[in-house]
Amino acid sequence: MLQFDVVVIGAGAAGLMCAAQAGYRGRKVAVVDMGKKPGRKILISGGGRCNFTNEGASPSNYLCANPHFVKSCLSRYTQHDFIELVDRHGLAYHHKTLGQLFCDNSAQDIVDILMTECEWAGVEHFLRSEVLNVVAAAEGGYVVTTSEQQFKCASLVVAAGGLTMPKLGATPIGYKIAEQFGLNVLPTMAALVPFTLHDHDKARFEGLSGVSIACNVSSEDGTAFKENILFTHRGLSGPAVLQISSFWRAGQAVTINLLPELNLSDTLHQWRTEQGSKSLKNSLSTLLPKRFIEILISEHAIPDKALNQLSHTEIEAVATYIHNWTIKPNGTEGYRTAEVTLGGVDTDELSSKTFEAKKAQGLYFIGEVTDVTGWLGGYNFQYAWSCGFAAGQVC
Ligand code: FDA
Repeated sequence: MLQFDVVVIGAGAAGLMCAAQAGYRGRKVAVVDMGKKPGRKILISGGGRCNFTNEGASPSNYLCANPHFVKSCLSRYTQHDFIELVDRHGLAYHHKTLGQLFCDNSAQDIVDILMTECEWAGVEHFLRSEVLNVVAAAEGGYVVTTSEQQFKCASLVVAAGGLTMPKLGATPIGYKIAEQFGLNVLPTMAALVPFTLHDHDKARFEGLSGVSIACNVSSEDGTAFKENILFTHRGLSGPAVLQISSFWRAGQAVTINLLPELNLSDTLHQWRTEQGSKSLKNSLSTLLPKRFIEILISEHAIPDKALNQLSHTEIEAVATYIHNWTIKPNGTEGYRTAEVTLGGVDTDELSSKTFEAKKAQGLYFIGEVTDVTGWLGGYNFQYAWSCGFAAGQVC
């Protein structure tokens, strides 16, 4: 039996951050992961360039049944602290849009920084080791059995992630351990995920695959995001769709303002005066993809007329339609392509300061396995750094 002060399950963003912090405190730390290399999700994140934080990260960018839960960890280890860390390691990075910071070269640079920190802190890594079960030891602490070895530890940190991307080793082990120790686990759901469409909508828009439109997309609860949507051969994707997917529930519609930057009614009235003989179709095609307008006309959603043939009522109807285009997704692409898992270990069961389970001394849950989900844009990694840091100070 291998003896450690701390065993961390999961060599992902949260687990590696936590392990390094605990190691720096003089704790003997083991990180156990079933993968053959650490940080596999980091490596594929941000299109291979890892959007590792967001300059504007704040508690309002997170979904959690207890919206106050993230305040403590985000304020104790901020995006500026992580930026200071990567600066110290000489990382080359850039600001993309909306506060998102990406590596210039490769996401491997972030994994290298975390692994260097772990090395300096004396952390030991056990890869290709699948955790099979965990039991509380009679004399205190925990025994962790993997496919390769058995560990005894005083503190056990569960950083085993959520259910997204099963191909990359996602397992429900974190939720199972929580339930085993009597912790409530909130229902999980794929989030930051593309929508699939009903067959009739898929047939309507199949020619638009690859077309992107800058929109304002809102869900039925009133949440809205102004970014691009992208038509795909399966349905709808793009940053605005991924964002709103976290707020969408089965059976609901999403409303898409296709021209959020202008008042279409005013524009159509002006066009009718200035260029009345021009068709509505050609006029609107200067603002939106022509193929999309052709579909709306073929379905009689908007009239096939010259601008000067449009009545005031018709202009208002066209403007209302374009500013409130509504579509009811069939579902989402699910965990296969989702970036994150909504729900998870109920944060009411955890200390917001240390991430220790209130019901099990020495047992910690951090990262995606907890019921905290960030928006798209580097917020999920920032949460991983912040909670990994917090647990690493005490475990
Ligand atoms: P994470 O899932 O990273 O790590 C958990 C680890 O536990 C895994 O290595 C797994 O192998 C291991 N494990 C699971 N079960 C086990 C078992 N039984 N035994 C042993 N090991 C086990 N976020 C962001 O902020 N910016 C971005 O650019 C992106 N981009 C992005 C792209 C894609 C395609 C995805 C899927 C996700 C993102 N994300 C993101 C989200 C981000 O990747 C996610 O929030 C973090 O990786 C979560 O970190 P964790 O450490 O909590 O879990």
